[in-house]
Amino acid sequence: MAWITKPSGTMKIEKRSQPYLTQAIKDRITKDYLPRYENKRGALLPTLHAVQEDAGWLPHQALTEIADFLGMTPSEVIDTASFYEEYWIKKKGENVIAVCRSIACEVCDHKTVTDACRKKLGIEVGETTDDGKFTLIEIECLGSCGSAPVALMNHTLHENLTPAAIEKVIDDAAKGGHKHH
Ligand code: FES
Repeated sequence: MAWITKPSGTMKIEKRSQPYLTQAIKDRITKDYLPRYENKRGALLPTLHAVQEDAGWLPHQALTEIADFLGMTPSEVIDTASFYEEYWIKKKGENVIAVCRSIACEVCDHKTVTDACRKKLGIEVGETTDDGKFTLIEIECLGSCGSAPVALMNHTLHENLTPAAIEKVIDDAAKGGHKHH
């Protein structure tokens, strides 16, 4: 991963009045998880998970709320959330395209598939289109090496892909074929 310098000290953080860490989530964590751990920070992963499930991703505000709740610093929470691929600290699009980048797909030119997505959507890997419709990511082996290269559009696996084939998958999704939830 490359380190990107951001003007964090002066960055404006979007805030909304309604918390992401709702009372209902707090109650559930307090009842189901906190008793299992020696200290509160032990419940960090399930708390991140619960908030993400509710909000779809983990905005900065949510991370600071979680830090408060578990008696941690925001940076500790952000470090953990950014370490695990399953947590989204950037807003996720309505549709998520995940191109496999592991060895079998790499050998079968997964790059041409990723490039077709980048070009068609005008975004880089890890980004979301301005209209919030698509997020492009690359992930590890999807267990379908025999039909490489493969990609997921939301929860649907597409095999033996070509640039033209993935473009069609994107077109179909844009028409509202398959929504992610
Ligand atoms: S390497 Fe892509 S599915 Fe296994």
